[in-house]
Amino acid sequence: MYKIVNKDGNAKSATFSTVHGEIQTPVFMNVATVAAIKGGVSTRDLEDIGTQVVLSNTYHLHLRPGDDLVYRMGGLHKFMSCNKPILTDSGGFQVFSLAKTRKIKEEGVYFHSHIDGHKLFMGPEESMRIQSHLGSTIAMAFDECPSAKAEHEYVQMSVDRTTRWLERCKKEMDRLNGLRYTVNPHQMLFGINQGAIFNDIRIEHAKRIADMDLDGYAVGGLAVGESHEEMYDVLEHVVPFLPEDKPTYLMGVGTPANILEAVDRGVDFFDCVYPSRNGRHGHLYTKRGHINILNARYELDDTPIEEGCQCPACRSYSKAYIRHLLKAGEMLGMRLCVLHNLYFYNNLVKEIREAIRSNNYQAYKKKTLESMSEFDS
Ligand code: GUN
Ligand code: ZN
Repeated sequence: MYKIVNKDGNAKSATFSTVHGEIQTPVFMNVATVAAIKGGVSTRDLEDIGTQVVLSNTYHLHLRPGDDLVYRMGGLHKFMSCNKPILTDSGGFQVFSLAKTRKIKEEGVYFHSHIDGHKLFMGPEESMRIQSHLGSTIAMAFDECPSAKAEHEYVQMSVDRTTRWLERCKKEMDRLNGLRYTVNPHQMLFGINQGAIFNDIRIEHAKRIADMDLDGYAVGGLAVGESHEEMYDVLEHVVPFLPEDKPTYLMGVGTPANILEAVDRGVDFFDCVYPSRNGRHGHLYTKRGHINILNARYELDDTPIEEGCQCPACRSYSKAYIRHLLKAGEMLGMRLCVLHNLYFYNNLVKEIREAIRSNNYQAYKKKTLESMSEFDS
């Protein structure tokens, strides 16, 4: 059940109830591709960093440890000891970005594993069966993400096929949810809008999938090489054609500024590897822009990464100490940096929710964008 709490312009803040608990939106989903947040962050840490939703991946878990194994261990929530909603991406995107020598056919995609090269096939039914084995809260539809540079004719053909795949996903998900030994018989399905940067294709596709009464709608195929302006333009055109009374999810995005702009265009679900990936390299987010903690200027800095930050790193440790840990190759250094960055993102969307709910979004967005660009080092 999705309930809008308040709208401020096009920005919306809602509550979304699931069998694994209620989600407050806008929300940032914390990426755990192989059922682990990279950098040594465990599910025991999630409360401390304000995580609401965990995101995992069909393609990776199918290859290792195998969705059969996860099913036999009682599903993904039990396997990784996670009591929060989990969204699984369908594997479509990863097949296109990671696998070698793929062949796309009407039935699905033939490809080779990026781990050991063995031959595999995944189509809409396979993706739904794997996600059903995992028992995630929300399953994503199996889609093709055409390149940002693909031509109009190819994109149209691809999107038509993605629509047929979506119909097959829905049918298979309905069947799986009715089986006796399903891990999560209430598994939800989100559709994915595609169309590269062609607004005519995007809008027609949005209208078609909006009629299918899915649990939520994602905008995919963005942040794949187009400019930020092109991405915002697509959102402005396509979001109005997606059901307002369902969650709107912008896949794989993005920087704090991207999130602030997308919220302003009606998006309320996000995920991105930036905070964890950048954290592992000592690139840290603060309200005044990002810093590189390896910079010599922090050698004797006894202040936290960000004054006033309530994350586990800033509550106890100085920049000088965290810098030392990273330089010494100590695991704790990476872990503290990732905890801080995820806290930063989760706290950003929390502030966004508060601003929308008090009809103050424009002022909040302006202030935050201005202060974040204050320094860059
Ligand atoms: N993650 C980022 N972009 C996409 C996309 O277009 N499709 C899927 N399935 N996942 C994504
Ligand atoms: Zn912090």
